[in-house]
Parts: sequence; structure tokens; C-alpha cells
Amino acid sequence: MNQLSTEEKSNLPRHVALIMDGNGRWAKSRKMPRLFGHRNGVENVRAVVNAAKEVGVPYITLYAFSTENQNRPKDEKSGLMKLLEEFLKKELRSMMEDGIRLRAIGDLSGLPPFARRIVEDTIEQTKGNKNWNLTLALNYGSRQEVLHAIARYGQDNPSSTGVPSWEEFSPYLQTAGLPDPDLIIRTSGEFRLSNFLLLQAAYAEIFVSPLHWPDFGRDAFLDALGNYARRERRFGKTSEQIQQPAHLS
Ligand code: IPE
Ligand code: IPE
Ligand code: MG
Repeated sequence: MNQLSTEEKSNLPRHVALIMDGNGRWAKSRKMPRLFGHRNGVENVRAVVNAAKEVGVPYITLYAFSTENQNRPKDEKSGLMKLLEEFLKKELRSMMEDGIRLRAIGDLSGLPPFARRIVEDTIEQTKGNKNWNLTLALNYGSRQEVLHAIARYGQDNPSSTGVPSWEEFSPYLQTAGLPDPDLIIRTSGEFRLSNFLLLQAAYAEIFVSPLHWPDFGRDAFLDALGNYARRERRFGKTSEQIQQPAHLS
């Protein structure tokens, strides 16, 4: 059983965002249809969310469906939406028991009405939960998010001609209210962000696992957290500045 050291535990990310990739390849390697991979991928969500609770990572964001995934075959898309509905129905009770608040980022109007309804209902029912935060990126694309944010910022500030500060602008992103991700994990060995949280990831640490998402369970997740905990995040400063007490730097 994988355990984090005391030192690693004191240096955990607050917000981990996961690009859950490789369900299709996982299924293919078993000569099974892609949806079999997606079904097993959903099962794995539970394992990772439980691991986050076990060690105390309060914010988890899952990239479940991108704007570009709309270009996939109809059957795959509708299968994914049914899995989403099943997952939320099944998980509501434990989300209430554990105090998990669900949020969504992405354009929910592009989901089938039954899927949109259950997402919105679950968000509403869990909005008072305060222990843990689970965000699903659904029909999400970072570029689209930014363009919408610019439009809404302009509507709210029609006479502004200057450049807004990040603090003024970032509340217009769909991630308003969430801390920036500290760690982005991508499974299945792919080194790209695929339109995920491009601005929010400005200083995120990135971890790529060769495992396909259905195999990326508790131990793999804890390994990634341990790896993160041993890194030095410098935010543009020098290593010496980081290691000095703040009042001296
Ligand atoms: C990730 O697995 C799930 C979604 C993108 C919805 P993929 O379906 O992308 O799996 P691969 O990349 O084809 O193996
Ligand atoms: C990224 O995976 C999106 C999700 C995990 C939901 P993709 O499989 O769609 O990414 P690309 O197309 O390989 O970049
Ligand atoms: Mg993929």
C-alpha cells in the first residue's frame, strides 16, 4: 500500500486537475469497444476522488469532455452522456455524506438536455457542501472560455479602455471561485493540454503518467502527489530566494 511520507504530506497540492485520457486505448488493448473503456474510466473516478479525500486534497477537477470531443462519433458521445448521468445518480448520496460540492465548467448548453439537467440538479443539491470540491469539465474548451470571459468583461465594463488586471479579469472565467490548479495530471503518456485550463495552468506543475486512465488508481495518484511534493516551485524566483525565509527575500 502506497504511503506518502510526512514531509510529502506537508507539501500536497490544493487543487489537482486531471486529464483523464486513454480509455479508448485501454479498451482496444482488451479487444473491447471504446465505451467499455469509458465505463471503466468512470469507475476509476471514484478511486481517485477517494484517494484525494484520504490524503486531503480539497479541489479535484476532471476533464471529462472537451469542446473538440463533440467531433467524436454520435454513439460514443451519447454513451458518454449516459455514463455521466449514471455516475451522478449513483454518487449523489455519497457526495452528500462526504460533503462534496459539485461544480461544472464548460458550455452545458451543448450537452443533451437529460445530461444537462442532472448536472445542474446535482450542482444545486450539493452547493452547501463544504468539505471537498469536485469540478467536472464538460463540453469545456479553454479558448472558448476565455473568449466568453472577454465578451462578458466588456459588457460589464463598457467604458473601460485600459488593460484589466488579472484579479479583475479572472472572475469572468468559468473557474471563478476555484484556486488555480497546482498540479495537472495527464494519463496515457500524452504531453499536451488539449485546450484545458490554459490560463489557470500558468504555474501548474505537470505530471504525465504512462498508464491509461482506467488503470490510474489510488496508488498511481499518490505517486503523482509524492512526485509533486518533492518539486520546487519557484514562480520566477531563484532557488535561493525560495529556500530563504520570506522576510529575507
Ligand atoms: C479519454 O479517453 C476520455 C475522453 C476523451 C472522453 P479517450 O477516449 O480519449 O481514449 P483514447 O485517447 O482514444 O485512448
Ligand atoms: C482530452 O483528451 C480531453 C479529455 C480527456 C476529456 P482527448 O483524447 O480528447 O485529447 P487529444 O484529442 O488526444 O488531444
Ligand atoms: Mg484521448
